[in-house]
Amino acid sequence: MSKENFITFNDVVKSYNIGDKTFNALNKVSFNIPKGEFVVILGPSGAGKSTLLNLLGGMDTITSGNIIVDGENISEYNSTKLAEYRAENVGFIFQFYNILPTLTVLENVEIVKDIVKNSKSAKNILKEVGLKEHENKFPNQLSGGEQQRVSIARAIAKNPKILLCDEPTGALDSKTGVEVLKLLKKQCDANNGQNTVIIVTHNALIAEIADRVIRVKNGEIDKVEINKHPKNIDEVSW
Ligand SMILES: Nc1ncnc2c1ncn2[C@@H]1O[C@H](COP(=O)(O)OP(=O)(O)O)[C@@H](O)[C@H]1O
Ligand SMILES: [Mg+2]
Repeated sequence: MSKENFITFNDVVKSYNIGDKTFNALNKVSFNIPKGEFVVILGPSGAGKSTLLNLLGGMDTITSGNIIVDGENISEYNSTKLAEYRAENVGFIFQFYNILPTLTVLENVEIVKDIVKNSKSAKNILKEVGLKEHENKFPNQLSGGEQQRVSIARAIAKNPKILLCDEPTGALDSKTGVEVLKLLKKQCDANNGQNTVIIVTHNALIAEIADRVIRVKNGEIDKVEINKHPKNIDEVSW
């Protein structure tokens, strides 16, 4: 596997049966993502972005084609292998945080210890994301930005090679969203730049900070752009 072909989608189709009709949410999608890049998948609502991310994260399976990650064809994995792949390689961040309301901030991050062997210290990570003084609070005592930081802390406590973020700033104001993007970028730059971070968004302004922008339209790749000089995160707002 070369660094260039860390993630490869080859003619990936994902179809759903609706009544007696078949609908392709993704239609022969092919692209590459090199290791260590900060990538934005950009497209309007309904384009197929979440479908694409869920397939890459091993949360859903393809109809045809294949997905290669780090030299492994994950499309051939059975559900046990997929669960292992998710636990060991992938961190997830969602628009509405998906943290557990009955656990404290610290407990929400410590949960990772039960899933992966080499998780990072929850306390250290909470310090890194600026939540140390909130560690004993419950999610409903936090702002939206703080809750999203808990979900980032949980995701990076796994020390994942791949961090998948589905509209991570979608529920946040611009200023808080920028803070969240900075944490995602920091995770990408950690580990000698070997971490790959993929952000799904419909916000074209966020694309300006990415190394690579994959534009999705109607279940197809519209265009892939490489930003030789991505904008600094402080230069964007929406
Ligand atoms: N489980 C499903 N069953 C049927 N259609 C679905 C399902 N999931 C997604 N779709 C359809 O696939 C298309 C792409 O959805 P999605 O990937 O969620 O788009 P995006 O994240 O870009 O807004 C949409 O038209 C959506 O309605
Ligand atoms: Mg979506």
